[in-house]
Amino acid sequence: ALIALRQLLDHAAEHGYGVPAFNINNLEQINAIMQAADACDSPVILQASAGARKYAGEPMLRRMVEGAVEMYPHIPVVMHQDHGGSPAVCQASIRSGFTSVMMDGSLLEDMKTPSSYDYNVAVTRRVVEMAHAIGVSVEGELGCLGSLETGQAGEEDGVGAEGTLDHAQLLTDPDQAADFVARTGVDALAIAIGTSHGAYKFTRPPTGETLAMDQLKRIHARIPNTHLVMHGSSSVPQDWLDVIRANGGRIKETYGVPVEEIVRGIRNGVRKVNIDTDIRLAMTGAMRKLMAEKPEEFDPRAFLKVATAAAADLCRQRFEAFGSAGHA
Ligand code: G3H
Ligand code: 13P
Ligand code: NA
Ligand code: ZN
Repeated sequence: ALIALRQLLDHAAEHGYGVPAFNINNLEQINAIMQAADACDSPVILQASAGARKYAGEPMLRRMVEGAVEMYPHIPVVMHQDHGGSPAVCQASIRSGFTSVMMDGSLLEDMKTPSSYDYNVAVTRRVVEMAHAIGVSVEGELGCLGSLETGQAGEEDGVGAEGTLDHAQLLTDPDQAADFVARTGVDALAIAIGTSHGAYKFTRPPTGETLAMDQLKRIHARIPNTHLVMHGSSSVPQDWLDVIRANGGRIKETYGVPVEEIVRGIRNGVRKVNIDTDIRLAMTGAMRKLMAEKPEEFDPRAFLKVATAAAADLCRQRFEAFGSAGHA
């Protein structure tokens, strides 16, 4: 059944687990996530970006999620809007049946220009008023996602600041976080601690300098009752990079957020962990491998089937590592 994010994250906090929030764009990704959740008895957060709605079409996406809920009636599902760029976008998602929305006021509506603190408070608060009136949860974001190595947001196109960010923007301030939560009433807060969207997060395995887990601890100590959200939390598995490279793909050397660091985060208040890139890598690796091994194959279902299995395996690993398995 569909439930609100707040309900799920309150349960997660009570029981000390985290929930992966996987991005969905198509039928195969939805099936993979649901199959994995069913196999390990985990609740689910399905999240759709503006890009996902553009890709699939809003009615198609909505009805695919309805299908997933019907197929797995025993699995609690949160339908979440990822990185809403304005109150209008969040309102449209609420009308479309989402049970949770992210108002990302850390950037202006263009999703590229860092905003002022006052703008962020104002738009987020407006969405909270609108959403809470009908039982929909709200995630806000304070601080800009980006690399502490380079000051860059990460993704070339898509969600992320343009140009170089300074150190202060890249790390969420604990006192400002407390003020933000008090003034907006958000149910969950996305924070910046050095992660970024996409496959190119770190040029070498992250250290305490580039992945600021100490900052996360300081934020959690300041607002212990706020559910924290880690964006840019793909681990960029080296074995999938190897499969992609061995089968004609070209991906530069790169490192993601180690699963054990996310588990440390969960011990320090992280309840929602956003993952998109890892599913993309697993699906692409599986499809490239089959295409190379079976050049005579031309039924797309053959490729999509191995891609679904690869994504499901990855999802199951995350449900288990983050501790949401067994809590459906
Ligand atoms: O926030 C970034 C997510 O990975 C969504 O990416 O905008 O390409 O759908 P997208
Ligand atoms: P990744 O690119 O690390 O998977 O992050 C996804 C994300 O944060 C979606 O909001
Ligand atoms: Na989100
Ligand atoms: Zn994100």
